[in-house]
Amino acid sequence: MHHPVLLNEVLNLLDIKTGCRYIDATVGEGGHTKAILSMDAKVLGLDRDSSQIERLAKHLHDDDNLTLTVANFSEIAKVAKKNGFVEVDGILFDLGLSWDQLGAKGVGLSYRKTQEALDMRLDEEEELTAEQILNTYSEKELYDLFARNSEEIRASDIAKSIVHQRKSRKYKTVRDLNLTIDTVMGKNAGKTYSRIFQALRIEVNNEFENLKKGLSGAMELISKTGRIAVISFHSLEDRIVKQFIKEHGMKQINKKVVQGNRLLSFEKPAKLRVFSL
Ligand SMILES: C[S@@+](CC[C@H](N)C(=O)[O-])C[C@H]1O[C@@H](n2cnc3c(N)ncnc32)[C@H](O)[C@@H]1O
Repeated sequence: MHHPVLLNEVLNLLDIKTGCRYIDATVGEGGHTKAILSMDAKVLGLDRDSSQIERLAKHLHDDDNLTLTVANFSEIAKVAKKNGFVEVDGILFDLGLSWDQLGAKGVGLSYRKTQEALDMRLDEEEELTAEQILNTYSEKELYDLFARNSEEIRASDIAKSIVHQRKSRKYKTVRDLNLTIDTVMGKNAGKTYSRIFQALRIEVNNEFENLKKGLSGAMELISKTGRIAVISFHSLEDRIVKQFIKEHGMKQINKKVVQGNRLLSFEKPAKLRVFSL
């Protein structure tokens, strides 16, 4: 069961109104979308993972206020225009993955699923996999990737160890990568697993570039009074959002960043920024 993150805060700060139009750029399991629909508003829901859209379409097929489509939010402007969603009242980006995807997608997104293949693609049409990165990137490229996408302090040692390890055995499963991290970190591997898996997932799915394109597209689509809400889950994503707001002279509605509830593990790292033209 998925719990939408910062639900009340999103609804309040996006100022959801009956009859108005919203885009949920990361519709996922539909937690936020269902709440918006319950207020008699219209929603265009996007997700790049077709299995998320298929599942949601089965539950919500008879809601005339909902349009669902498989799409990368980097193309939000094109997709929205095609569906007649221009001058919209609000757009939500709830970044990252849903708990279901981490557990059930079976593509090596979680370091806990040790038997899974190191794939990590949310969209099977894309070509680059985590396995290819681990088996072909140079030591320098691996170091840059870990440093850029996770700020892992032992990035250099881990990159070196990967290049050494693959000379005798290529990377195939999550377990292979965990063993390399264990070799470098010993008993202190804890958060390094999360950081290295996050860094690879960001690279495979081109997450930072997509976010920048998605925000630019969203800016084209909102009405004069429309609002954009972004929930991010790590400081690197939040930095992109903060910079975007500054560079484009947008107005942040919530003066202080809204933080996830520290008592809820799924919400704790969340940060919400809502802004307008
Ligand atoms: C945290 S979940 C969203 C959960 C949703 N708000 C809910 O309440 O059920 C993030 C979703 O965004 C999707 N996603 C990630 N990157 C995307 C992108 N570039 N374009 C479209 N969807 C994306 C993921 O597949 C995932 O379903």
